[in-house]
Amino acid sequence: MTKPLVIAIDGPAGAGKSTVAQMLARRLGLAYVDSGATYRAAALKVLESGVSLEDEEAIIRVVGSAEIRFIPRQPQPQVLLDGKDVTATIRTAEVTQAASRVSRLPAVRKKLIALQRLLLIEPGVVMEGRDIGTVVFPDAPLKIFLKADTAERARRRVQQDQEQGRPATLDDTLSEISSRDQRDAQRQASPLVPAEGADILDSTDISAEEVVERILELARRKHLLGRQ
Ligand code: DC
Repeated sequence: MTKPLVIAIDGPAGAGKSTVAQMLARRLGLAYVDSGATYRAAALKVLESGVSLEDEEAIIRVVGSAEIRFIPRQPQPQVLLDGKDVTATIRTAEVTQAASRVSRLPAVRKKLIALQRLLLIEPGVVMEGRDIGTVVFPDAPLKIFLKADTAERARRRVQQDQEQGRPATLDDTLSEISSRDQRDAQRQASPLVPAEGADILDSTDISAEEVVERILELARRKHLLGRQ
C-alpha cells in the first residue's frame, strides 16, 4: 500500500499559500489543510477566555483544554472550537495578531502539530503553514516555500479582506504583516525557514495559476502524479 501523499506549502503571510494550496488540492483530488486555522482557533479560545497574551502558563492551560477540529470539506474547510463553528470568527485582525503570539509557545505547537498529523488521509493532502516541511511532515516528497515581496503580500491581503467584507487599509496591513513576519521568523520553536530540499517559488510577479502549474511540473518530475 502506498502512503498518502503530502505536499507541504510553507511561507510568510500573504504569499498566496491558501489560494495555491486549494487550487492544487482540487486539481489533484487531495484534501486541503490550512494549519494556520488551528493556531487561529487556539488564539480565539485564549481571547474568549480573557487570559492575558503575556501569561504563557494560562495560555498553555487554556489551549490544552480546547477541543479544536479541522474538517477538510469542499469548497471551504470548517473549523470547530469546542463544538462551535468558528470558521469566520478566526479571521478577524485581533485573532490574527493573537495567533502569531500564541503560536510561539512550544506546548501549543506540540498539541496542534499532533492534530495536524492526524489530518493526513488517503489519497493525500496539500497542507499549508509555516513549518509543514520542516516539522510537521519533514519526509514530505514535495515541499514548496512560497514567497513574495512584502508590499505585494500586503496588497493581496487587503484585497482578500475587502472581498470578504473586512475593511482594511494598506498601511495597517503592511505593518501587521511585517510584525508577524518578524515574530514568525525569529521565534525559537519552528521558525519560518525553508525546509531542507524545499523548492522556493516567488509569486510576486506570477499568478496563482502559474504557481500551481510550476508545482505540478515539480510533482511530475518527482513522479508523484498518477499515484492518487
Ligand atoms: O497562515 P495564517 O496567517 O492563518 O497563520 C496564523 C498564525 O499562525 C501565523 O502568524 C503563524 C502561525 N502559524 C504557525 O506558527 N505555524 C503554522 N504551521 C501555521 C500558522
